Amino acid sequence: MRKRILTGDRPTGKLHLGHYVGSLKNRVKLQDEYECFFIVADLHTLTTKSDSKSISEVSQNIKNLVLDYLSVGIDPKRSTIFIQSKIPEISELALIFSMLTSISRLERVPSLKEMIRDLKIESPSYGLLGYPVLQAADILIVRANLVPVGKDQESHVEVTREIARRFNGLYGEVFPETEALIGEVATLVGTDGKAKMSKSLDNCIYLSDSPETVKSKVMKMYTDPTRIHPTDPGHIEGNPVFIYHDAFNKNKGEVEELKARYKKGTVGDVEVKDKLNKALNGFLDPIREKRNKLEKNKGLVEDILAEGTKKTKEEAEKTLCLVKKTMGLDYF
Ligand code: TRP
Repeated sequence: MRKRILTGDRPTGKLHLGHYVGSLKNRVKLQDEYECFFIVADLHTLTTKSDSKSISEVSQNIKNLVLDYLSVGIDPKRSTIFIQSKIPEISELALIFSMLTSISRLERVPSLKEMIRDLKIESPSYGLLGYPVLQAADILIVRANLVPVGKDQESHVEVTREIARRFNGLYGEVFPETEALIGEVATLVGTDGKAKMSKSLDNCIYLSDSPETVKSKVMKMYTDPTRIHPTDPGHIEGNPVFIYHDAFNKNKGEVEELKARYKKGTVGDVEVKDKLNKALNGFLDPIREKRNKLEKNKGLVEDILAEGTKKTKEEAEKTLCLVKKTMGLDYF
């Protein structure tokens, strides 16, 4: 039997280049080697956005998210895409897992601390603290072996592994010890040079940005602040323009040449950015083209989700049944 992958995203908006290098690229690559499940984690959005207005935006966000998936090359014929809230077994498994996880363990999860700090949440809800527990249920409901994710999600996969180990130790072997698979570029810097490309920091290039938008974002990108004239020797390390060149420019010879000239002070930022713009748009063009075609196909996303949900539901029922049996919860 092929090993399984489960990963996914919250439907909070468009996906960006950081998502691509962190996780999407691995997903596309591993579609044949693994049996893949991709979750649209709508319940997770409620951990920070539970007001009616936010909920009313979810359905459009789901459509955009699935279009992003399909346009980068996730193939619904080979992979299963489904909506979290349509699989109630996940919530039930999360409830069981919540009994196996201590509050102090969850309070130490770094991404949660960050969320609470960045969103200035005064009093985090029980549900927010349980975010990684719900994520563990997402992963383990299909007994996934591998989770391709960005670096920021690594700590959630660690909680998942601990829960699986705890469950297996207490009741019997049901779950694999899932591993995280972090992308080649674990965390992509933002266009502003800040550590992470992130919607809330407004420093993203989205997969669905138009060529003009990409150009204007690239031309405004943060580079080497110590370099004032194009004839000053520049720094490559940590320079977002070169990090993006490395990640997206297929012409490695061009990148090496630009780096050498940059260090010597024989190339201006404008030329380096111009070439980056061409490389990025070259990368994004086929993605846009595919998206344009898919958008015309009305009902496509709905059909894919219905099919994926049906398939996941069958697996989820099997796992939950086994969980209850192994725990001795199958009385009467
Ligand atoms: N927490 C993930 C994120 O914000 C989304 C997610 C939910 C997820 N459930 C998952 C990722 C299960 C991997 C596996 O990016």
